[in-house]
Amino acid sequence: MSRVKEFNTENSTAGAETRECVLEIKDLRKSFGTNKVLNGFNMNLYQGESLVVMGKSGSGKSVMIKCVVGLMEADRGSIKILGKELTHLERAALDQLRAEIGFLFQGSALYDSMTVRENLEFPLRRHAARMKNDADTETLVLEALESVKLAHTVDLMPNELSGGMKRRVALARALILKPKIILYDEPTSGLDPITSKEIINLMQEVQQKYNTSSLIITHDVDCARVISDRMVLLVDGINYAEGNFKELSQSVDPKVRAFFK
Ligand SMILES: Nc1ncnc2c1ncn2[C@@H]1O[C@H](COP(=O)(O)OP(=O)(O)OP(=O)(O)O)[C@@H](O)[C@H]1O
Ligand SMILES: [Mg+2]
Repeated sequence: MSRVKEFNTENSTAGAETRECVLEIKDLRKSFGTNKVLNGFNMNLYQGESLVVMGKSGSGKSVMIKCVVGLMEADRGSIKILGKELTHLERAALDQLRAEIGFLFQGSALYDSMTVRENLEFPLRRHAARMKNDADTETLVLEALESVKLAHTVDLMPNELSGGMKRRVALARALILKPKIILYDEPTSGLDPITSKEIINLMQEVQQKYNTSSLIITHDVDCARVISDRMVLLVDGINYAEGNFKELSQSVDPKVRAFFK
């Protein structure tokens, strides 16, 4: 029997199975010495959905997302992005596939010594094929900044921005290549409730404007309630429970309940 607790009532994953699976993780395993962090984690992200992965601090959420973007190598398991198995790809194909994924790092991770413009140009330079000339670059930078309502900050340095503004610039940088999938690692952590709400609204706007699929890692229950179509709870290295917010928040399982207290 599956160890995963499914909360599939009629409308929780309605239609999900008929949609394209843009990111499929199977049996992902990753240890550091004796510390077994991921121990058979499975997850599907479908086209156009917002999937929230919740797990307590240190449960392996960032490790999981780093395996997906190739910043870390998994010990075992399969990661398929847009139908392509990551481990089977040559470097050039891998780079091309990475351009389809936007990544909002935990804590923004802007380059402090670069202006906002240079921060946004960075992914464009890495994927130079998408940048035909300087005029294109300028247009893409301003378009991405306008999406997060910060076009006026283009020549500022990160230390001249508030925490919420930094997060929005990081979001602009994540979407500048118009990725099909955006991964968010704790998009609202360290922000006040009002700024968190602004970021969540922007994430929803971006989702609609660019028709992306989103994987959102968070332990912010309010964020999960507002943004998730579906949720996966990461407990003890596995996808312990799955369902929509309402279903999971009404669970009687103590390990699931712990998230909603
Ligand atoms: N490079 C590394 N080397 C050794 N151990 C690591 C490394 N990266 C992560 N770990 C360990 O993996 C575990 C999971 O870390 P991870 O950063 O994924 O947690 P998290 O779920 O993202 O937590 P948080 O909510 O605090 O961000 C932790 O025990 C951490 O110490
Ligand atoms: Mg983390």
